[in-house]
Amino acid sequence: MDPVRIGILGLGTVGGGTVSLLRRNAESLQRRLGRPLKVSRVAVNDPNKPRSVELEGIDVTTDAEAVCTDPEVDIVVELVGGVDNAEPLVRKALNSGKPVVTANKALLAERGNELFRYAGEQGVDLAFEAAVAGGIPIIKALREGLAGNRIQSVHAIANGTANYILSRMRTEAMAFDDALTEAQELGYAELDPTFDVDGIDAAHKLALIAAVAFGAPINYEALTIEGIRPITAEDIAFADEMGYRIKLLAITKHGPDGGIELRVQPALVRTDTMLASVEGVFNAVQVIGDAVGPTLYYGPGAGADPTASAVVGDLVDVARTLGAPPQYRVPYLGFHAEGMQEPRWAPIEEVETEYYLRLQAQDQPGVLAQVTRILAEEGISIEAMRQKEPRPEASDVPVVLLTHTTRERAMRRALDAIDRLDVINGPSQMIRLEEVEE
Ligand code: HSE
Repeated sequence: MDPVRIGILGLGTVGGGTVSLLRRNAESLQRRLGRPLKVSRVAVNDPNKPRSVELEGIDVTTDAEAVCTDPEVDIVVELVGGVDNAEPLVRKALNSGKPVVTANKALLAERGNELFRYAGEQGVDLAFEAAVAGGIPIIKALREGLAGNRIQSVHAIANGTANYILSRMRTEAMAFDDALTEAQELGYAELDPTFDVDGIDAAHKLALIAAVAFGAPINYEALTIEGIRPITAEDIAFADEMGYRIKLLAITKHGPDGGIELRVQPALVRTDTMLASVEGVFNAVQVIGDAVGPTLYYGPGAGADPTASAVVGDLVDVARTLGAPPQYRVPYLGFHAEGMQEPRWAPIEEVETEYYLRLQAQDQPGVLAQVTRILAEEGISIEAMRQKEPRPEASDVPVVLLTHTTRERAMRRALDAIDRLDVINGPSQMIRLEEVEE
């Protein structure tokens, strides 16, 4: 039986993992597919670099474009990353009639609509399971397994590095910088950790999740993105005392005014929820469908083997339908092209949640009265309030408040006014509290 020939662009962690996995599980993959999956060519920057992966029988080249156009390659796997350098390669492969499997979330979040349109015009597949939550097959679950549902909400812990940092800040009372350094030393965080800790990586993934959840064009611009840098070990400890964990959540759901919310933010979640128990570099995605109710998908969100698992899963899918007319394939984003609809994306001011506030207040009479007056003027009701011990040699004390459900617009106005008080050393901390259904 003729093998399905694969060309891989990039032989880093995921590329090396993919070559190894295809070799290791060659027999069971052939049993699944009825044909062997064979890596025939790989494109690398430096062919002389020592590699731990066995490359015998594979043509190694520095010419990525040649792999994209090679008539001896049936499917191209794009693992070079980046946007501007990856896009022309993906287009070249699609233009040569080759399906593409990619792990590139930034590329699809920013240019996905054009690339899926282009792939459609060429009549070939563009698969991206590995772009979202590493080894967790969440794209397949949303596109296929949950197709009977109208999706109501998705709450995801979609960045392992940020989750690791928050976990270490809680269990070891570490400062953010120390936990980040540790994550870098362990190889979890990139040297430039911006994408991980500022929420951008999670936002790229959320843009794709929302598209397959709601049948909407990918809209990265509609996202509100906040990272974890402002979270202190003190906030994590205070939240813990009140029965909450702080997680970086990627959230998309129907908002109170009918728009679809799209936001990556640190959030308090009740300690007794399954999402709260996701620790370290693991990812988890909670999806609520109108028929199935809450479902949870948990697993490794990064790493060579887990991400290769997603790449190879896509390769099997794509190989099965090689040359088949498009109507025999699952649509790229799970919805028929004519069924895709741009929803109204809810602006952040429309969001309604409870809030955790930490104010740094002068320890003198009447301060809390001023704060509660401002909150009352905005119609914000307080659920709990605690004054904490002052930090050594500090002139102010932390005051922590939990509010009842409030509109973000009102909360922002109230916080502006609170931070203008002479007795408050702003800016105050504000973290949303997410009710996650179990
Ligand atoms: N850097 C990501 C994470 C994995 O820490 O989850 C790749 O998206």
